[in-house]
Amino acid sequence: MLAGVSDSSRSPRSPSVVARITTSRLLLREYRAAEFESFAREFADPLSRTHMPGLVDRRTAWRVFAASMGTWMLNGAGWWAVELLATGELVGTVGAFFRETALDGKLPVDLELGWIVFRPFWRRGIATEAAAAARTFGFERLDAPRVIAHISPGNVASIRVAERLGMRHEVDVDFYGEERVSRYAVERP
Ligand SMILES: CC(C)(COP(=O)(O)OP(=O)(O)OC[C@H]1O[C@@H](n2cnc3c(N)ncnc32)[C@H](O)[C@@H]1OP(=O)(O)O)[C@@H](O)C(=O)NCCC(=O)NCCS
Repeated sequence: MLAGVSDSSRSPRSPSVVARITTSRLLLREYRAAEFESFAREFADPLSRTHMPGLVDRRTAWRVFAASMGTWMLNGAGWWAVELLATGELVGTVGAFFRETALDGKLPVDLELGWIVFRPFWRRGIATEAAAAARTFGFERLDAPRVIAHISPGNVASIRVAERLGMRHEVDVDFYGEERVSRYAVERP
């Protein structure tokens, strides 16, 4: 069972406010407007974006930032800011979200996970801990039969995170005509 959740989310995929989840070291919570600069910096960092589709300018970063919160109101899923409980520092972001492809009725409506840890906090197990909470939220609160992640084949660290979550390589897919990415997936236990 997922411990430490307090939210007003209701039935699966219904509108909700951002769920709050605590793990042993982390608090997953809503984004705050004052934190936008940290996100914009991250989206424009060439090293962090090595395996992501390009650098994101500040204007687009704002849209991504706002949409990451907005989808909570649309379908009860989205992204969280990840805060280190011990210090209150913002250390990254994880998501459990539906793409727009889930709305056209033609494609599978898989819940997707995503993870970004800010560079000074890499290799401390933060992505694994935060993403595991997002995965469990997907299974237990959103009733997802399985969760997926799209990862660039060269993103060794991210593949490791997926594997730590029990995800296995499923298929390589064309990602919006931009690149080939690997889809990882794990079924609900
Ligand atoms: C991918 C990312 C989120 C990993 O975050 P993290 O908090 O450093 O990951 P963790 O500490 O939980 O490490 C998970 C595993 O990856 C390994 N790992 C982490 N960074 C690594 C690196 N640069 N090279 C190789 N392995 C790495 C860890 O050793 C660990 O493996 P283990 O379980 O075998 O010990 C982080 O590197 C990042 O934000 N990158 C930029 C954004 C990105 O690419 N996001 C994913 C998009 S799909």
